[in-house]
Amino acid sequence: MRKDFLWGGATAANQCEGGYKEGNRGMGSVDVIPWGENRFPVMLGEMDYRQLPEDSYYPSREAIDMYHHYKEDIALFAEMGFKCYRFSFSWSRIFPTGEEEQPNEEGLKFYEDFIDELLKYNIEPVVTICHFDVPLALVEKYGSWKSRRLIDCYVKYCDAIFRRFKDKVKYWLTFNEINMLLHLPFMGAGLQFKEGENKTQVKYQAAHNELVASAKATRLAHQINPDFKIGCMLAAGNYYPYSCNPEDVWEALNRDRDNYFFIDVQARGEYPAYARKMFEREGIVLETEEEDFRILKEHTVDFLSFSYYSSRCASTDQELINKTTAGNAMKSVKNPYLKASEWGWQIDPLGLRITMNTLYDRYQKPLFIVENGLGAIDRVAEDGSICDDYRIEYLKAHIEAMMDAVDVDGVDLLGYTPWGCIDLVSASTGEMSKRYGFIYVDKDDAGRGTLKRSRKKSFDWYKQVIETNGEILK
Ligand code: BG6
Repeated sequence: MRKDFLWGGATAANQCEGGYKEGNRGMGSVDVIPWGENRFPVMLGEMDYRQLPEDSYYPSREAIDMYHHYKEDIALFAEMGFKCYRFSFSWSRIFPTGEEEQPNEEGLKFYEDFIDELLKYNIEPVVTICHFDVPLALVEKYGSWKSRRLIDCYVKYCDAIFRRFKDKVKYWLTFNEINMLLHLPFMGAGLQFKEGENKTQVKYQAAHNELVASAKATRLAHQINPDFKIGCMLAAGNYYPYSCNPEDVWEALNRDRDNYFFIDVQARGEYPAYARKMFEREGIVLETEEEDFRILKEHTVDFLSFSYYSSRCASTDQELINKTTAGNAMKSVKNPYLKASEWGWQIDPLGLRITMNTLYDRYQKPLFIVENGLGAIDRVAEDGSICDDYRIEYLKAHIEAMMDAVDVDGVDLLGYTPWGCIDLVSASTGEMSKRYGFIYVDKDDAGRGTLKRSRKKSFDWYKQVIETNGEILK
């Protein structure tokens, strides 16, 4: 492993920051996604959040209140020896409605203090510019990324943060899990559908707008500071064919392409032939401008970041398709060779090595694993200790696979930031009980708890992993 390998952890504003009304912040799209049975219909863009019952609970609004606890949290990250920390800015903290002339100084100042706290411990900030949340005003006025207007709003936001943090932040990710907009359109991109609307058309138009925004942000970033490193971000995990039946192999290839589509554009700079043909077949006509394609071509990303929780599996056998398993928003046929987490996400460390090799072969740009981990129920013992051996086991196996990809296969990897290094709100379920952290946060699914932080067994384990640059994993 390289000496400067970026070991760290990852979170997102909408799942841990809270303080949703503080410092002149505007409402964001994720602030209106409730916990409970209405969560999925809202995340899919099929239920209007304005019709939710009045007593709905919105877990993102307070989350783990990192807004007020960040000094304590960063001190704990430093104690584990983090070399980097991936987190996101809340767009509506900086542009409350997305369209102000000037950024909100209180928002910028909050992130400046936050970043200074990281730098105090020599922790490299890795900033996700947009981790799902869009200013709600832009959703209501323009239908979010359906409209090209969002490109200008996003670039203005980037301009403000790139200039302000020019000398403090080097690594930026333009959109978290950009492919998520196909699977959870409101969660991923603030998209809601009207009756009769062609959803595929809407989603690919939004995708085009985000891709152009990402390329424009990349251009701007390199103008403002040529040393900036800009990354795209994919919800990754290869599709395996369920069998060697060519029909299954073909199905798996096409499922993978749905996801690679985004990265093909961001890393190679062009719409792939298979996507152009698919648009023709489906009657999708994108609203584009001539310069879009030049910008996409000339401003590709510097590196590729991705999340990996599990591999996926594809089949054409209807009986198997009916038995899909849970996973990171993408449906997958259940793989009989793999065990699963308490939430049904299948566990496949070798799949990480396979995914890394596939991405590196395909794009030949440095990779960065910015999410990986096990969502599990933790039990606090009477003495307050939390013995999360299952988490250690999961992470150990994935780190081994990651190191094989680097040391044996030669993949160029910048760093590894396990997801939810401190417990936070689950994106898919809105629960607190689906915990990923090395640090426990006392809060339950309904929002009750003291918010007290405590170290789990995995805390000391991960500290040693970092200290030894991955040499000691036991
Ligand atoms: C990714 C997201 O999809 O997976 C995170 O980028 C999310 O925001 C993570 O939290 C884990 O998913 P979940 O549903 O267990 O929180």
